[in-house]
Amino acid sequence: MPSPAAPGPRNLLTDRPELYEARFPDPGRLAARWTEDVLRRHGAGPRVLDLGCGTGRDAAHLHAAGRTVTGADVSEAMLAYARAHHPGPRHVHADLRGFDLGQGEFDAVTCLDSALLYCHTNEQLDAFLASCRRALSPGGLLVAEMRNGAYFLGRTDLLEAPKVAGFAWGGTTYRSTTTLTVDRTAQLLRRTRRWTADDGSAPVEQHSAWRLVFPQELRHLLASHGFDVLELHDGPGPRTDPPWSEDGPPPGRATDADRLHLVARHPGPTTP
Ligand SMILES: C[S@@+](CC[C@H](N)C(=O)[O-])C[C@H]1O[C@@H](n2cnc3c(N)ncnc32)[C@H](O)[C@@H]1O
Repeated sequence: MPSPAAPGPRNLLTDRPELYEARFPDPGRLAARWTEDVLRRHGAGPRVLDLGCGTGRDAAHLHAAGRTVTGADVSEAMLAYARAHHPGPRHVHADLRGFDLGQGEFDAVTCLDSALLYCHTNEQLDAFLASCRRALSPGGLLVAEMRNGAYFLGRTDLLEAPKVAGFAWGGTTYRSTTTLTVDRTAQLLRRTRRWTADDGSAPVEQHSAWRLVFPQELRHLLASHGFDVLELHDGPGPRTDPPWSEDGPPPGRATDADRLHLVARHPGPTTP
């Protein structure tokens, strides 16, 4: 996953969204189907803002399901790709670490695949939640799906060895070697990803990071911004094993596994 703040060489996946979809395929639109199911279960209205929309495939699925969708991303390359390849939604440039897309304009804000965790500092998390609250109509929902910081307490399986993945696209074979490390001081999961390709191009090294957010910390942050937490659990979800399915079990209550799923409601102004 790309980071807009990545230093050094250009970011292969952000600059080439078609590679992003080749590396992280979701042909069955599982993430978008899970999101639509959450929105329906909680009776969300039709207007959806998908923050960190990436290639726009989830936003387009929600649009096809009858919703009025705005996809927002900080990457102009992602936005251009979304407009060309996944039309239907409106696509706008916005930084989730503080944005203003109007007051009460949306019935739901979705933020999938750890996009929320690009808020690295407490100030950025506060700005994200204040922006979401402004964007939501009273009763509106915040739906997020992300890595779980608590997973790394006492577990090192994701940290021990680099993860190597290969895939072919457009006649070229790409190989990525990903190393994760925990920065305990910054409370970040730092990622180094080295890309090689068999087309003669030079290797590219990318650096990015996710905030390690803990479930109880998230509850406290949401409460301090006036949100009611309706669901916070580790699955099933679109990136859990086994994955969510329409006829599968309902959400659990544990927050132990490596993915968190959040549904929170903006209750609107308090009545006197
Ligand atoms: C995991 S990716 C895309 C997820 C997308 N929903 C999908 O599955 O195709 C995360 C996205 O967040 C975007 N992003 C990163 N930092 C951002 C920021 N500060 N504001 C808005 N978008 C950001 C990236 O450009 C990227 O498109």
